[in-house]
Amino acid sequence: MSERFSRDRFAVEGGAKLVGEVTVTGAKNSVLKLMAVTLMAPGRFTIQNVPDIADVTMMAELLSRLGCKIERDLTRSSITITVPEEPGHRAEYELVRKLRASINVLGPLVARLGRAEVALPGGDAIGSRGLDFHTQGLVDLGATARNEHGYIIAEAPHGLTGAHIELEFPSVGATENIMTAATLARGVTTIDNAAREPDVVDVGNFLNAMGAQIEGLGTPTLTIRGVAALHPADHSAIPDRIVTGTWAFAAAMTQGDIAIHGARPHDLELPLEKLVSAGAVITTIPDGVRVTMSRRPSAIDVSTLPYPGFPTDLQPFVITLNSIADGNALVTENVFEGRFMFVNELVRLGAQIRVDGHHAAITGVSRLSSAPVVASDIRAGAGLVLAGLVAEGTTFVEGAYHVDRGYPKFAEQLTALGARVSRVD
Ligand code: UD1
Repeated sequence: MSERFSRDRFAVEGGAKLVGEVTVTGAKNSVLKLMAVTLMAPGRFTIQNVPDIADVTMMAELLSRLGCKIERDLTRSSITITVPEEPGHRAEYELVRKLRASINVLGPLVARLGRAEVALPGGDAIGSRGLDFHTQGLVDLGATARNEHGYIIAEAPHGLTGAHIELEFPSVGATENIMTAATLARGVTTIDNAAREPDVVDVGNFLNAMGAQIEGLGTPTLTIRGVAALHPADHSAIPDRIVTGTWAFAAAMTQGDIAIHGARPHDLELPLEKLVSAGAVITTIPDGVRVTMSRRPSAIDVSTLPYPGFPTDLQPFVITLNSIADGNALVTENVFEGRFMFVNELVRLGAQIRVDGHHAAITGVSRLSSAPVVASDIRAGAGLVLAGLVAEGTTFVEGAYHVDRGYPKFAEQLTALGARVSRVD
C-alpha cells in the first residue's frame, strides 16, 4: 500500500449521539477558486480562513508549478501566494485529474497571458461533467479553444473583448471562469443565467477587491466592465456551507445536539428548513447555528437545484438521513446524473432505496447494520461515515482520502463530538 493511502479506512462504531461544538473553516469551493484567481495579477496575495484539506495542498502545488511562491501558515489558516510577472500557462494532467477545480486556472491564464493549456480532467465519480460552457464562454469573449492530446488549448493573443453570454445551465465553474476572464476584457460583458452560489459571490468580491468591476453578484445577471489590469488583494474566504450542512445533518441523524460555530446559516436556508421538517430544532447562535434533534427523523422529500435551491453536495446526507427516518421519501437529483452511485453502498448497510433515473425512493428503516463499504467521492464518503454512526456494529469505510479532500480532521472532529471513529489500514 502506498504512503498516500495508508490508514485509508474509517472504522465507525454505531450508536453514538453527536453532542458538542464544532467550528467550520473556509469553503473548499471558494478557497480553491480564490487561489486560482490570484493568477490574474502579479504580486503578493494573502487568503485567510483556508481549511487544512488535501485539495488546497493540490491547488498550491499547481500554482507553484506555474511559478507562484506559496507560503502556508496552518496555525493561522492562511496562505500567501506570490504570483510572478510571467506565470506558466500549462496545467498538467497528473494534477488536474486529481483536482477538477484546476479548470479554474483556464480563465485567468487566457485572460492574463493570452494562452492556456489545461488538461481535460476526465471521468468523475458523480457523473459526466462537461466543460463546453467554459470554453464557449471564452470563445464568445474572442478566444479560440480546441482540444489537443487531452488538453484544452485556449488562445487570445490580442486579448479578450466583452460580449453578451447566456449560459445554458447556471454552472458554477463556467460562471467563475468567464466572469474572471471578462474582468480583463475590453468593454462590457454580461452573463445571463449565471450561477448564484455564495462561492461565486466570494470569488467576485475578491476580484472586485483586486480592482475588477463586477456588478450583480448573487443574481442571475452579471455585468463586468473590463479594466486594464488588476492588483493583489487580501481576502478571507466565506465559511463552508457544505461542511456546515454536513454537521447539521449529522446532528439530526444521530439525535444529537451540535453548535456549529463560524457558520453562515443564511447560505443554507433550504437545507435547514428541510431539517426542521424532519423534526430538528434549529437556533441561530452568535457565530453560527445549533441543531438539536430529540426523536427519530421524519422522512423528507428533496430535489437538488442550483443555488438557492437544495445543494447537490448535501444530497448524500439527505439520502442517509432518510434511510433511517420514519416514512418514505423521494429524492430527485437534478444537477449530477451519476450522484446516486453511493446508494449501492448504503444498501449494503441495510438501507431500502430504489433508484430510477434521477429519482431515489427511500423507505426508512429503524437502524442500519454495519458492513464494509467504499467511498466514491468526498460527500458520499462523509455520508457513509455518518451512516456508520447509525448502524449497529462497526462499519469500515474505505477511501478515506476522498473525505480528506474536503473535511479537515473529520475523524478527530467526530470523536470530539462523542463518536468512536478512527483511521485504520
Ligand atoms: C461545483 C462544485 C461542486 C458542486 C457543483 C454544483 C467546485 C470545485 N465544485 O462544481 O462541488 O456539486 O458546483 O453546485 O466548486 N456542465 C456542463 N458543461 C459545462 C459545465 C457544467 O454540461 O461546461 C454541467 C455539469 O455536467 C453538471 C452541471 O452542469 O451537470 C453543473 O455543473 P457545475 O455547476 O459546473 O459544477 P462544477 O463547477 O463542476
